[in-house]
Amino acid sequence: MPSRPHITVDDLRIGYGTRVLMEHTTFQVERGTIFAILGGSGCGKSSLLRHLIGLERQQAGRIDIDGVGEPSQYEGVPPFGVLFQSGALFSSLTLAENLWLPLNRWTPMRGATAHELVQAKLDLVGLGAFAEYLPGEISGGMKKRAGVARALVLEADLLFFDEPSAGLDPISAVELDQLIITLSRDLGITVVIVTHELPSIFLVADNCIVLDKAAKGIVAQGDPRKLRDESEIPFVHAFFTRSSYDVTANPGG
Ligand SMILES: Nc1ncnc2c1ncn2[C@@H]1O[C@H](COP(=O)(O)OP(=O)(O)OP(=O)(O)O)[C@@H](O)[C@H]1O
Ligand SMILES: [Mg+2]
Repeated sequence: MPSRPHITVDDLRIGYGTRVLMEHTTFQVERGTIFAILGGSGCGKSSLLRHLIGLERQQAGRIDIDGVGEPSQYEGVPPFGVLFQSGALFSSLTLAENLWLPLNRWTPMRGATAHELVQAKLDLVGLGAFAEYLPGEISGGMKKRAGVARALVLEADLLFFDEPSAGLDPISAVELDQLIITLSRDLGITVVIVTHELPSIFLVADNCIVLDKAAKGIVAQGDPRKLRDESEIPFVHAFFTRSSYDVTANPGG
């Protein structure tokens, strides 16, 4: 029997005020997989992510994470971790202190137990020796990995990443991709990732949705390598092969 999807999105409509960004949006994210949200700038990827984590309320439709119900209605410890586009570490706190914050906020864990957990998460992302460093004292790639460690500290089995490799050099970006693969393959964590980086998509993503601004929703979904090789939708083909695409000639997809 197939297991229940980790995330179920059903006939979702999102937008701001009277403006609709995306409608009739339906997809599932299977447990333990890496799922990519793709599409051109401004199509609503970050907005979709903010809805999935309950920071915004949808206009219509249903979001369910792990059978827990609507994310915007959660109380208590969030059942997921998030790495925001900016990384968002507190610059005046050490890496260890940045990881302690969510523990203090959400768990009774203190002292040596908290210290061990923080250290274990920093070790996991390869920053075990940098616990006492400030974010300003480490590289961009290390900051992103520290953000991942913080997203992991509450031991959620679901992580959301918004453009994790944006602004990173190619080597650091690949290191981050490898870390994401490790989280999924070795720890069984479900990862939802918003990204523009084609090499990263083909390396890490098991599955994806491609969003299109003009179509106000999903124009393709499936294995990104398959979509690249087989999709006959001009926008999807152009996206995956980085070829030019005349929006006016193909309105809506
Ligand atoms: N809080 C908000 N209030 C009103 N409009 C918003 C809000 N956040 C985003 N938008 C608008 O929604 C549209 C989609 O924005 P969003 O940031 O979700 O796109 P994106 O696909 O993540 O783009 P990018 O690839 O540039 O990060 C944009 O036109 C943006 O201006
Ligand atoms: Mg965005």
